[in-house]
Amino acid sequence: MPMLELNDVNSYYGNIQALKGITLSVDQGEIVCLIGSNGAGKSTTLKTISGLVHPRTGTVTLEGKVISGMPAHEVAGLGVAQSPEGRRIFPRMTVLENLEMGAFTRPAPDPADLDRVFELFPRLKERINQKAGTMSGGEQQMLAMGRALMARPKVLLLDEPSMGLAPMLVDVIFGIIRDINAQGTTVLLVEQNALQALSIANRGYVIQTGKLVLADDAKSLLKNDMVRKAYLGEE
Ligand SMILES: Nc1ncnc2c1ncn2[C@@H]1O[C@H](COP(=O)(O)OP(=O)(O)OP(=O)(O)O)[C@@H](O)[C@H]1O
Ligand SMILES: [Mg+2]
Repeated sequence: MPMLELNDVNSYYGNIQALKGITLSVDQGEIVCLIGSNGAGKSTTLKTISGLVHPRTGTVTLEGKVISGMPAHEVAGLGVAQSPEGRRIFPRMTVLENLEMGAFTRPAPDPADLDRVFELFPRLKERINQKAGTMSGGEQQMLAMGRALMARPKVLLLDEPSMGLAPMLVDVIFGIIRDINAQGTTVLLVEQNALQALSIANRGYVIQTGKLVLADDAKSLLKNDMVRKAYLGEE
């Protein structure tokens, strides 16, 4: 049974159909990436999984249990954490307070989870009492990912973690995504940085105007002509 499965999902914003029959799956322990250009429906896919958007038809299942239609906090409680596009950290709260908020699905924040986050992101430990809004873009990205990990999720949904980061920091972030996965967390990664995403992923899907147009293992997608032209900037 897949860890996460979307079956013929159709999601709308009012009358606008943003997802058109999305069917995909993520197995336990995998990194799966979803690539596509602006407005393709990547964030909507993640929001439909995390319960921020409810599909009009189709189902989302987590370990075989239907989660579509559940409110977002219940989905979070079942083990799905999202690091949203644009980070959405709480700017007036400190790093520590932001991380504690991430543990809202648990009875209390677990010091072991904090230790794990600080091990992955030593920078956050150095800045534990800094107001999150005063941190750099890269640090805020680390905080958003750390906050999501505080829920000790089974599935981590990452929406464009490399957006706006300097190339060196992009490498760092992708390395950390690998580490998080190696520690047992299943990852669904949304990226416009297709090269980096496919380099760490097991499998990938390509989405165009709300429809999946390609699904393959990451190595094959890296060699695919359409992917190379449209998403890797090659002639
Ligand atoms: N809250 C909303 N209300 C109305 N339309 C929306 C809303 N959010 C997204 N859309 C529309 O749904 C479509 C898919 O948007 P989505 O944010 O999922 O794209 P994306 O692939 O994440 O793009 P980007 O790479 O720019 O983040 C777009 O046409 C967008 O304008
Ligand atoms: Mg998006």
